[in-house]
Amino acid sequence: MKIGIDKISFHVPNDYLDMTDLANARNTDPNKFHIGLGQDKMAVIPKTQDIVTLGAAAAEKIVSDEDKESIDLVIVGTESSNDFSKSAAVIIHGLLGIQPFARSYEVKHACYAGTAALQQARDYVAAHPTRKALVIAADIAKYGLNTGGEPTQGCGAVAMLVSAEPSILAINDDSVFYSEDVYDFWRPSNHEYPLVDGHLSNEIYINSFTRVWEQNLKVNQTTSQDYAALTFHLPYTKMGRKALRAIFPSMSEEEQTRLETRYDEAVVYSREVGNLYTGSLYLGLISLLDNSDALKPGDRIGMFSYGSGAVSEFFSLELMPGYKEQLTVAANQALLTARKQLTIEEYEEMFEDKLPLVDGDYDFNDDTTYAINKLKDGIRYYNH
Ligand code: HMG
Repeated sequence: MKIGIDKISFHVPNDYLDMTDLANARNTDPNKFHIGLGQDKMAVIPKTQDIVTLGAAAAEKIVSDEDKESIDLVIVGTESSNDFSKSAAVIIHGLLGIQPFARSYEVKHACYAGTAALQQARDYVAAHPTRKALVIAADIAKYGLNTGGEPTQGCGAVAMLVSAEPSILAINDDSVFYSEDVYDFWRPSNHEYPLVDGHLSNEIYINSFTRVWEQNLKVNQTTSQDYAALTFHLPYTKMGRKALRAIFPSMSEEEQTRLETRYDEAVVYSREVGNLYTGSLYLGLISLLDNSDALKPGDRIGMFSYGSGAVSEFFSLELMPGYKEQLTVAANQALLTARKQLTIEEYEEMFEDKLPLVDGDYDFNDDTTYAINKLKDGIRYYNH
């Protein structure tokens, strides 16, 4: 029995900042952002939207009424939670109207948590093949105005419906993991934004990739030729490319070109959005499926998941027959092209505009399908 991704979708907010505008405002050569980091646009979120609204909007695109009766597991992978106790998963479960006899919870380890959630869902469905699981990876990557990390911000959510005999991708049972206790990026509870040693984080990312890749080749007895594509966690799109190039010395030139062409297809959407933390790897996967004509059913796609701190996993997916009919390419592209471009002043104002920290009764005006319309007694009330 195959288990895997039956449906997949993403959501980003309606506003973005062009990286040329950010570069000009920060007295930086725009080529540093467009070429040096590989980012063209950055998704920006208003204060009335959060991981719940992003996750619910992504999931709504794929969860049918019939699915709502079969889902009994909802997991949100995130590092942008706004509650230390209650999970975003139980709120999304309620907003979507999923049948009540379900487990709903949140998991955390930096950008790795989306993969932890996906693998838990896979194990659950393996034990209960008639049931389905909804996995959401949702985050808001913010480092602060005028910081080194600012050009690598972004936000958004990816939703995946996990089932037996999936229509898009089977998840192979071939994971290789790697954990290393290191402080490259972390966010203590008294910090609004993460603390980051940017250059160390790049180093640990590449080192983690080469470690799990080598271990994968050993454990699973594969070579690079067994992978139609390698897909990476994308904090910015140059990062995965650097990791991919780190394993090029063992490959023929033809092999390098093939994998780098697939890589270019996998980063189309992230160039337009920025870092989604837990969702970045999966936005890369959607981008690859939507933008590649070279893939075919039966192909194996390698997945490198990385969460600073640091936990990583390499595993693979198998493309299912007829997968192309399940993709929503036109809607995905329309979501990105319909967004509104912000001026630098609008971006900075939106960045600093936050939900009130003082308890009270506040009403907001955001008519987006999923948005916070009221804050009272520490409870966020959502439109839906
Ligand atoms: P920086 O110091 O601003 O940039 O930090 P830089 O000087 O390292 O330059 C970046 C690249 O631009 C370099 O290319 C330059 O050569 C190039 P590289 O040598 O790396 O190939 N460059 C130019 N290219 C063309 N024209 C120019 C030009 N000027 C320079 N004129 C950094 C960059 C990414 C470190 C910073 O933005 C940062 O700290 N970001 C946040 C941390 C991060 O994203 N780390 C990535 C790995 S960790 C990770 O993925 C986990 C994470 O997602 C969190 C989680 O797990 O939860 C972050």
